[in-house]
Order: sequence, then C-alpha cells, then structure tokens
Amino acid sequence: MKRKAYITSTGSYLPESILSNEMICEMVDTSDEWIQERCGVKERRILKDKDKATAYMAAEAAKKALQKGGISKDDIEVIIVATATPEHPFPSTASIVSEMLGIKRAFCFDVSAACSGFLYALNIGARLIESNAYKSVLVIGSDKMSSIMDYTNRNTCVLFGDGAGAVVLKPTNNGFGIGESLLETDGSGYQNLYQKAGGSLFPATADTVLNKEHSISMNGPAVFKMAVENMVGCCKNLLEKHQIQKSEIDYLIPHQANKRIITATADYLEMKMEKVALNIHKYGNTTCASIPICLDEWSSKFKNGDKLILCAFGAGYTYGSTLVTWNSGLEENV
Ligand code: ACO
Repeated sequence: MKRKAYITSTGSYLPESILSNEMICEMVDTSDEWIQERCGVKERRILKDKDKATAYMAAEAAKKALQKGGISKDDIEVIIVATATPEHPFPSTASIVSEMLGIKRAFCFDVSAACSGFLYALNIGARLIESNAYKSVLVIGSDKMSSIMDYTNRNTCVLFGDGAGAVVLKPTNNGFGIGESLLETDGSGYQNLYQKAGGSLFPATADTVLNKEHSISMNGPAVFKMAVENMVGCCKNLLEKHQIQKSEIDYLIPHQANKRIITATADYLEMKMEKVALNIHKYGNTTCASIPICLDEWSSKFKNGDKLILCAFGAGYTYGSTLVTWNSGLEENV
C-alpha cells in the first residue's frame, strides 16, 4: 500500500479571555441578535498578554499535541506554521516556535494562505511524508486576529477571534490518512479581503496607521458569495473527481468563517449538523486555527476508518478540500 501521512495527535490553545457579543455591543453599533443570526458567533477568545502573540499560541497548541501523542520534541523534523498574523514580517513564526519548543535542526517555514492556510500546510506536510523525505511533521495553524482588528469597524470586529491548533503527522502503510485533495487560488478578488499596509507596497507610515490600513479590510457580501460558491464547489469537485458518494462521508470539518457558509456546505453534502464540526459560536473565526481546533475538539468522536472532508475558503481567494480517512493508530504504521 502507498505510503501516506496520517494525523497521529492533535492539540489546541485558546486564550482564557472572552470577548462576548455584549462587550462588542459596547464598542460598535450592533446587537447580539444580529451577530448570532448573520454570523453564528456568541463570543470569541482574545490573547490579552502584551508580550505574547501567534508563536506563543502555536507553541502551546503544539506542546499539547506532542503530549497527547506521547511524541518527543526530538522526533520532529519539520514545523509548518500557517498564519495570517505572523509574529514578525520575518523570520518565520515557525522558526520562533522551534525555539520556544526547544526543537533543533528542524526544517521550519510558514504558509500564507489566510483561512485556507492550515489546509495548504497540512497538504504540504503530507506530501513531505509521502515522498519518504520525512517521518514526523508538526503542522500548526495560529492567528492573533485581534492584533489586526479595528474594534470600531462593525463589519469585521464581530467575526474574528484568537487561537491555535496543531497536529502531528506520521507515515502509515495501511491506506488510511490524508488522501485526495483539491487546492486552488483565484487572485482576482484579493482586494476584497486583505491587510493593505505593512508589506512592501505600503510600508508602515504615520498615514497608514492613521488611515487604519494595518487592520483587516473586507467586502463582506462579496467574500460571502465567493465563500459559499467555493466551499461547496471544492467539496463537489473533489467528490466527483474521485467518484466518492456524499453518503460515504462521516464528518465535515469546515473552516469557521460564518455559520451560514458552513450550513450551505453541509446542505450540499446532505450532512446532518451533528456530523459537522462547529465551534464558531465559542471562538469566532480564528483564521488558520479554526480547522485544527475543530479536529482537536472532535477527534475523540472519530473511529478508525471514518471519512472526513476538511474544507476552507479565505483571503486570496484561497480555497480547497481534503479527504482524510481517520487512522486511530491501531493498525501497524511505518
Ligand atoms: N451589526 C449590525 N449591522 C451590521 C453589522 C453588524 N456587525 N455589519 C453590517 N451590518 C449592516 C450593514 O451596514 C447593512 O446595513 P444596510 O442594509 O442598512 O446597509 C446590513 O447589516 C447588511 O450588511 P451586509 O454586509 O450585507 O451583511 P451580510 O449579511 O453580508 O453579513 C458578514 C455580513 C457577516 C460580514 C458576511 O458578509 C460574511 O460573513 N462574509 C464573509 C466573511 C468570510 O467568509 N470571510 C472569509 C474568511 S476570513 C479570512 O480569510 C481572513
């Protein structure tokens, strides 16, 4: 059987501090009812410590994944961090995470694909294992969205929260693990969802700060339409391409952007909501962290051989879907 990668353990980190809809209502003109109805969010977590950010949350999630899987940090050969809010423009957040974890000589880099970042990173990690080049890959999604949020802009501040999730990938020969995948990018709408300043085109100046160009800028309705089209579209195309029936899928693990986008994807897959990982009500949209946090919260439900479909849509536009056959590690692995 072809060598594949499988998720051998998961971990997540959510900051303790809660930012509820009631608290948001004191900042902008909105209501708990509007936010819950239009987005599905009740509260989010915010990392308040001034001296901690994306790398800290990533390292905390990774420590839990290593501990849960009984994996030594010395086994880790690759660290991939998916993030839209890196610790610094450079070096990579993954480099800082390696230092925080005390992991020496690993191959470390970041992946920038906004809300699809974890899915992109998971696929890169899986291919590195399939190629026989590596045996132990740590894939992390971590975002401190509060660091790029304008808490006077009701269009965006109601949606996002902070958090991190991590998985450890190992090889297997039993046919289970990370399977078929479809990952695409459509760059035509990139200005509908971006952080305008702070890069090489618009470096930070007093004006960029004054104009709040370091905060997330989003054309909500345009992004919403594309998100529904592409979350559904990439699941449909993946299943059709590999002649997999909707009824074969046991769980949907979607990126948590908006409950309505998730429901539309579940409806297409004819999936009952109890089979859909949902935590947007507790954490909002944690960007790269949402899928690995869902995996960590739901993994105890998965049985050996269960089929999961992971799907995401984000800025770029980036989007994709990946099939995972859950491997509980009971089979003999390589
Ligand atoms: N509270 C109350 N009213 C609001 C709020 C708010 N927080 N925000 C907008 N409104 C108002 C608008 O002003 C508008 O009022 P008007 O009709 O008087 O002009 C009305 O509500 C409708 O506004 P829309 O923007 O059309 O609302 P919509 O139903 O589209 O919901 C939302 C907005 C929740 C942002 C939705 O468009 C959405 O979820 N978009 C996609 C987000 C997403 O998927 N992002 C991708 C991932 S993020 C990443 O990659 C980093």
